[in-house]
Amino acid sequence: MGGLRPATPMPPLVDTHVHLLAGLDDGPDTPDVAVAMCRMLAAEGAGHAAALGHQNPDYPDNTPDRIRASAAALAAELAARKVPVAVYPSAEVMASPSLVEDWSAGRLVSLGDTGKYLLAEMPHGEFVDLLPVAEQLRPRGVRIVVAHAERYPDLLHDPDRAARWIAAGCLIQVTARAVADPWSDDMDRGLRAWVEGGYAHLLGSDGHGIDRRQPLLAAGYARLAKLGGRRYAERVGHAWGLAVLKGEDVNPPPPGQPSRTWFTKLFGG
Ligand SMILES: [Fe+2]
Repeated sequence: MGGLRPATPMPPLVDTHVHLLAGLDDGPDTPDVAVAMCRMLAAEGAGHAAALGHQNPDYPDNTPDRIRASAAALAAELAARKVPVAVYPSAEVMASPSLVEDWSAGRLVSLGDTGKYLLAEMPHGEFVDLLPVAEQLRPRGVRIVVAHAERYPDLLHDPDRAARWIAAGCLIQVTARAVADPWSDDMDRGLRAWVEGGYAHLLGSDGHGIDRRQPLLAAGYARLAKLGGRRYAERVGHAWGLAVLKGEDVNPPPPGQPSRTWFTKLFGG
């Protein structure tokens, strides 16, 4: 009977970073492409997706109202075409000196539009310390999600800095494609350490289209499970992501301790 153990069903994956809003920015050009991306997500095993618009100086027209209307239109389209992916109005905001002021003035959209988690990326070609911003936002009930955090060597290879940001309430989002197939040995080493130490909290595809930068999650999820154990992968790929999109509390254990023992490596955990 060896090898006949039934496979554990995978929970519906949650894409916390995918550009699905048609015609707003560098995401899909048309609603048809957005729907095709959602079909691809469903085929990847995803059931939920943060439908992002960019909010940065390149796209000044992406107001909260525009993003909300676009996400609602996509949700209606998906329901009409029976595509089984729930989409949540969201934005990827660019860190700037006015971030806290912009948030307070209602100019930014949070993940899932619940007012609890703000997905922030670095300005083009720069790395800025998000700790002061995280500390200013926390009393307002908002936490920073660091978008595609593996892109930033100053964070990826500085576990003390990452731990300080996490202690200030930040959640670390990693890109599925990078986890599955890191494009450098340095990134591979950094991501392994993050997964094995429990630094990574959320998974995103960073999908932008169907012919380019596709919304892929499954291979990244599989490698997360291989490196960090099934239980950790389920949290990152499903439970924590869903809680974020619904505006619920997420309290990951502090990072730094290797998350896997010989026992969990052998038997899953
Ligand atoms: Fe993005």
